[in-house]
Amino acid sequence: MTGSHGSGRKTALEDRPAIDPPAWFTEQANQADPSVYDTFEREWPACWEQAADLLEWEESYDTVLDDEDGPPFEWFAGGTLNASYNCIDRHLPERKNQLALIWEGHGESRTYTYRELSREVNAVAAALRERGVEEDDVVTIYLPMVPELPVVMLACVRLGVVHNVVFAGFSSGALAERMERTGSELLVTCDGYYRRGSAVAQKNKADNARIAVEQDVSVVVLDRLGRDVHLGKDYYDYATLRDAHDGETVDPVPRDAGDTLFRIYTSGTTGEPKAVDHTTGGYLSHVAWTSESVLDIKPTDTYWCSADIGWITGHSYIVYGPLALGTTTVLYNGTPDHPEKDRLWDIVERYAVDVFYTAPTAIRAFMKWGEEYPARHDLSSLRLLGTVGEPIDERAWQWYREHIGGGDAPVVDTWWQTETGAILVATLPGVDAMKPGAAGKPLPGIQTEVVDPAGEPVDRGEAGELVVTRPWPGMPRALRTGEDWGKSLVHGDEWRYYPEDGATVDGDGYVTFLGRIDDAINVAGRRFSTMELESAIAGVEGVAETAVVGADHATTGTAVYAYVSPEGNCAEADLEKRIEAAVERAIGSVATPEAVIFTPDLPKTRSGKVMRRLLTAVANGDELGDTSALRNPEILGELQSATPDR
Ligand code: WT7
Repeated sequence: MTGSHGSGRKTALEDRPAIDPPAWFTEQANQADPSVYDTFEREWPACWEQAADLLEWEESYDTVLDDEDGPPFEWFAGGTLNASYNCIDRHLPERKNQLALIWEGHGESRTYTYRELSREVNAVAAALRERGVEEDDVVTIYLPMVPELPVVMLACVRLGVVHNVVFAGFSSGALAERMERTGSELLVTCDGYYRRGSAVAQKNKADNARIAVEQDVSVVVLDRLGRDVHLGKDYYDYATLRDAHDGETVDPVPRDAGDTLFRIYTSGTTGEPKAVDHTTGGYLSHVAWTSESVLDIKPTDTYWCSADIGWITGHSYIVYGPLALGTTTVLYNGTPDHPEKDRLWDIVERYAVDVFYTAPTAIRAFMKWGEEYPARHDLSSLRLLGTVGEPIDERAWQWYREHIGGGDAPVVDTWWQTETGAILVATLPGVDAMKPGAAGKPLPGIQTEVVDPAGEPVDRGEAGELVVTRPWPGMPRALRTGEDWGKSLVHGDEWRYYPEDGATVDGDGYVTFLGRIDDAINVAGRRFSTMELESAIAGVEGVAETAVVGADHATTGTAVYAYVSPEGNCAEADLEKRIEAAVERAIGSVATPEAVIFTPDLPKTRSGKVMRRLLTAVANGDELGDTSALRNPEILGELQSATPDR
């Protein structure tokens, strides 16, 4: 399995130790066939039938991929299916009494068998239908990690309604923007919820967003706090609606493979949130296949991804992938250090979790807290560990394997993004050797290259930009139809997608990711656009000019550093507070700057362009390099002394 080094010269990356998966893992792995790469290559695109076969289709498709000369691409054209049926109904004959969801809340927990989940989803679907939502309408969901979140998602897709989940920690401004763009007229939220022991007033944020948008919005409110909140006109109580339809059944609405399953927003290069529409057939096939082959999920497993459903990771690998495979998926609400720093390991032990999927930022926090916390618990049930969100350095990878994985559980580093819908690059743990620090090879059927700015492949081991050179089933609507989305276009007669990530590839084809090449900042595995942050800060009275950059951070990977030049005589302490409040208002506290640094001027070229590269170097305490293009080089010394030491 290892050692099949290509003919190219040795690079540092090739010298990375490759670790074979243990035999006990390979013997039981869903995907242990080393010829899977060749088969997919030989039979592409028909190979993706394997993925579609993991689902139950109402009407089977005519072709796997219709790609005559580039976009529009049609995956599984002619096929129809329903995602709620695939995630629930079809499992009932075999495992109606098996747990579908385990929810760990703040000092409370709840479980749902597949039959119970079915009852909830049907009742809520009936209630939504009665509220007047119809196929292809968009319903916005603004809920924290409670079981009602996946229930409402599945109720929507049962009706062919498109859900638009907005991360509960986002501000009312961010919610309003997403609702308005999408024209959503129904919002499902809650009165509030507890985070680190204090109540978050979710409904207040929802109320403000509702007033801010142009369209009329009715609101369904889930009671989480039990405070008898008054519900005005166009507001409905979740439990009342649900109870009125309890026991009813709603036929799943068959959807075309290419019909939208859900919409999710991510940060785009223009600074405006970018709508990503994922499909019913292609997306669901791709998440099911990767859940099976990469995450090795089995129906008998208890599987836990500690992400929030408000991000794509949660959509794909808490809800759709695991439930499509009929497994038990764990949902947890809270923070890993509350009430104690062993919260996660306590959950793993109590439920005997088989597969655990988290982010490097969390792993770095666990390392900082110390190995005594996992050591308090029996983690021997863990068979496979996964990571996603940002590059994981070799030390964190080894720590994860050693202290969480008992030294021999395989670790899969999975690369993908909101736009890809599902994993594209990873090691297949039952087939490939792992190389700590490298994500792995493009999955079977996926083709990537690392190219220079002219689009030409770089030499092995050289840094460049990753490009995906073939369509994949989980691709979103805009890419399928060939809409002009960043650089993703047909170049000559070749179609390409640019995820905007830097990368290198070694002689074995293993890709190491080097971070974003655009202006996005990846904080704790979440992507924020610098432009969106800057426009929030620039709107604060007293701010003349601002530039936001990412600085390396021990736990979150990158932290937001805001350089601000204030107008005239403005009190800095007060301005800093107002800047933080503005970011919280525009985006949410997840994006609050780690440091706000005041400066009389920003480093600029003679043509007046802010030199971000220099600011990034200053923020990171790096060498500044060539500064000859600067109009105001004298500002650099001041900036360096004003930037906090890290
Ligand atoms: C960006 C996507 C997909 C869920 C999480 C975030 C970075 C993601 C990895 C990884 C290196 C990674 C990339 C990517 N990223 N996973 N395993 N190794 N980088 O989704 O918010 O759409 O962000 O996260 O830079 O482009 P997202």
